[in-house]
Amino acid sequence: MSRISLMNFADLPPGQSAEVVAEGKIFAVFNVDGTVFVLDGICPHAGGPLGKGSLRGDVVTCPWHGWQFQVSSGQHCLNSRICQTKYETIIEDGRIMIEA
Ligand code: FES
Repeated sequence: MSRISLMNFADLPPGQSAEVVAEGKIFAVFNVDGTVFVLDGICPHAGGPLGKGSLRGDVVTCPWHGWQFQVSSGQHCLNSRICQTKYETIIEDGRIMIEA
């Protein structure tokens, strides 16, 4: 497991989401009231960009067909069998980092 630096915490205000490419992978980064959550950025439905979805509270809606996920857990909002990979997140020296 290694630590991957994704982006500046200051560049992601509360209520915002971002798509970040790092180490050859796509990550979806969310700020929910000051707490940062990071999920695998590729929607399991058909590969849509979860980091470009709209964030309401702690639920992101995929921009392609509307699947919704709780970003704090990765859990699909309607189908309990679908859970998106969630990464351990750390803020260090103003950067959003994950263990991956
Ligand atoms: S690709 Fe995300 S809902 Fe279809």
